[in-house]
Amino acid sequence: MKRTNYCGNLSGQHIGTEVVLCGWVNRMRDLGSLCFIELRDREGTVQIVFNPQLNEELFKTAKELNNEYVVEIKGTVAGRSPENINPQLPTGEIEIIARELKILNESRIPPFAIMDEIQVTDNIRMKYRYIDLRRKKMYNNLKLRSDIVFAMRDFLVKEGFLEVETPILTKSTPEGARDYLVPSRIHKNKMYALPQSPQLFKQILMISGIDKYFQIPKCFRDEDLRADRQPEFTQVDIEMSFLEEEDIYTTMERLFKHVFAAVHHEIKIPFKRITFQEAMENYGTDKPDLRFECRIINAGEELSRSEFKVFKDVAGSSGVILALRVQNCVHYSRKDLAELEEYAKKLGAAGLIWAKKENGSVKSPIAKYISEEIWNTLFARIGFEERDLLLIMAGNKERSYEIMGQIRLYLAEKESWAKKDEFAFVWITNFPLFEYSEEEKRWVSKHHPFTSPRYEELQYLENETWKIHALAYDVVLNGLEIGGGSIRIHDPKLQWRIFRALGLSEEEIEQKFGFFVEALNYGAPPHGGIALGLDRIVMIVAHETSIRDVIPFPKTTKAQCLLTQSPSEVSKQQLKELGIEFIDDEINRE
Ligand code: AMO
Repeated sequence: MKRTNYCGNLSGQHIGTEVVLCGWVNRMRDLGSLCFIELRDREGTVQIVFNPQLNEELFKTAKELNNEYVVEIKGTVAGRSPENINPQLPTGEIEIIARELKILNESRIPPFAIMDEIQVTDNIRMKYRYIDLRRKKMYNNLKLRSDIVFAMRDFLVKEGFLEVETPILTKSTPEGARDYLVPSRIHKNKMYALPQSPQLFKQILMISGIDKYFQIPKCFRDEDLRADRQPEFTQVDIEMSFLEEEDIYTTMERLFKHVFAAVHHEIKIPFKRITFQEAMENYGTDKPDLRFECRIINAGEELSRSEFKVFKDVAGSSGVILALRVQNCVHYSRKDLAELEEYAKKLGAAGLIWAKKENGSVKSPIAKYISEEIWNTLFARIGFEERDLLLIMAGNKERSYEIMGQIRLYLAEKESWAKKDEFAFVWITNFPLFEYSEEEKRWVSKHHPFTSPRYEELQYLENETWKIHALAYDVVLNGLEIGGGSIRIHDPKLQWRIFRALGLSEEEIEQKFGFFVEALNYGAPPHGGIALGLDRIVMIVAHETSIRDVIPFPKTTKAQCLLTQSPSEVSKQQLKELGIEFIDDEINRE
């Protein structure tokens, strides 16, 4: 017997044909006089009928089957009688009258049923990932991922990009996270680092004259994990020579249009562009979800003139008074408002004040401290109407914008502002080149140290570091950063200056990046690029809320693989060969 069809692909047009199917027993129904099984493969399920009148032996064997047994079945496709048609099932019009059955393997009772909606913990799903991946929903996610990768590759190859592989055992490249290190057996006391990204190799490939490079590499970062972060994730990594920022925008927009069309979504290009500063001031984040508006409003101009002490104090310091005009939410009850304030306080706000307009007069716990003229000027400026709700918060500038940004997202979730299958792409541009790290007490690169500064601002590099902007961009989709890149520094002297501005000593530069600065000295062309977060893109298109659901074998939030139980202990012999000894002291046990 050789398989002729996938179960899920059969339909009325196959009636009368003989088929051989292979798959797993999804469900058994033994009616005594007849026995039905639902056979499942990656494309779906189909009903198989065993009739003792046709073959007594076969009927007996079928009764021995259990869920998840692997079988091969030969039979004839038959139409179901009208009363037996199952409109819920794509193959519900037909059934297979079994003529032969071979049990290829038995199965233990699986730890959970193979259904789209299951009630088991994520840990059980991860431990039995092979069972989890049998679910249609998970198969669809893997299929979507495969289609997206194919479309990316297809587009890039046709555009003249060359796919080039770069090493996994390499030297640390800084992308802001900790490295995963691999000890060298041959060179004792030395380590390889797993790449956080192929950043330096792709730049070196430009120096080699490759001109247009791409790769779909695994990247490794030892950082705190979240729903959109894995220690091992996949990028679509791209670099081009002799280009300007504009070339990246247009090439990537066309790439996204092609890729989304390949998975049946029409998107509009060009994407919106906003600067980093605009993003922070309007949405309190550099990854704004633009599926809905609701911008943050700086209400200081009006409210700082009021008699309300908190506002006066904040205005006197370097704080801000921010407001959100929440459209059509005047109906919020005291309980809703208390919940909102509770949420704001959890994020660190001192409080959250509300205001409504009813029959021309203002209702708010602070209404009496603020003159009618102030309210009216504010309302007129922001287009506030009787059906809207106003939320006000005062405090430290950076933190307040951030909190208001979170409240905006909280409201979007509560009010279901985002529509399904809506894709709001936006470029965030003109990032600062550096940001101050409180932890390290020094300036660090906002992206990475190979990012080109805006040449016209170079005079600020050494003394007014905060003023300098980068030729860098992120692409954000529905509030998630799905890619980031920059025009690079191709002048070795400037690269050296940037390293120095980051506080690296000459010895450190030489030791960490000597090979790279040297390469820049041998005719480096102007170049730039971007890396897209493949897992995040697939997650959004699949309507999932965690990238774990679009990665076949993901790690837990504690960076473990529950299927293989990694990380795991290794033998003493292996450690000895590597010259490694673990110090089993109190500190390490903690
Ligand atoms: P960056 O660090 O911004 O840039 O990474 C590019 C994109 O990769 C995705 N990403 C992640 N996805 C899942 N889990 C993670 N831990 C994770 N970290 C990042 C994000 C992000 O936008 N070398 C530069 C690119 C360049 O300059 O060309 C880089 O790696 O979607």
